[in-house]
Amino acid sequence: MKLLPPWPYPCLIAHRGAGKLAPENTLAAFRLGAAHGYQAFEFDVKLSADGKSILMHDAILDRTSDGHGRVDALTLGELAQMDAGSWHSPAYAGEPIATLVSIARYTQANHFSVNIEIKPSPGREWRTGAAVSIDAQHLWSTAEVPPLLSSFSEEALGAAREFVPDLPRALLLDTLPADWLQRLQALGCTALDANHRVLTREIVEAAHAAGFRVLCYTVNEPERALQLLDWGVDSLITDAVDRCGRLYRAVDCRAHG
Ligand code: G3P
Ligand code: MG
Repeated sequence: MKLLPPWPYPCLIAHRGAGKLAPENTLAAFRLGAAHGYQAFEFDVKLSADGKSILMHDAILDRTSDGHGRVDALTLGELAQMDAGSWHSPAYAGEPIATLVSIARYTQANHFSVNIEIKPSPGREWRTGAAVSIDAQHLWSTAEVPPLLSSFSEEALGAAREFVPDLPRALLLDTLPADWLQRLQALGCTALDANHRVLTREIVEAAHAAGFRVLCYTVNEPERALQLLDWGVDSLITDAVDRCGRLYRAVDCRAHG
């Protein structure tokens, strides 16, 4: 049994800011998540054409803004003209695409912790892992809690490890390959970050026994959240900041370990 690494993150983390209740990955979503009591946030980061770190889930702009085409084809100045709120609802019309800089300011001013999911545009995995991790190290250099870096891209996590070895990393896995433990070891990860549907009590125990924390996504039913926490999952990511907000108050969700 290996010693577990520190895990200074609360057991509930809001997905993309506040899940689906506000436009994902915008500052407005973080504010809404905070209003529901959340103190930790997951969000997706990729690069503009001029190499700036911005928040966006998809490789193209069409679903979550009034822009069209590839995010990485536009500069930060061009992306700043986009409306990232109207697609969601009139209340959020005019909400800008968030930058990693603005999120760093907001979360640290409010003593919130973050899970930065490195979400490279296709073909830019290494460059995105390097740039986002370097930006994160710089922007959170005086933070009480370091940002947790995660990615489905092993290439991006490898770049993060090379350029910023000190920031904790988690490998995102939607399914569990037979060699999942070896993959975590090869990338020097702190945590497994799995789709909650692939987790069992035995897998959580195997990860812990090998010295890895366990994080999972996207858990939207309070009963399932309680089951996962009972199995020993260290943190879970949720869209249901309203339903799981009540859960947040019912269990001791403060950071531990
Ligand atoms: O980081 C966990 C979760 O966000 C991964 O899936 O597609 O919502 O970014 P996705
Ligand atoms: Mg994500």
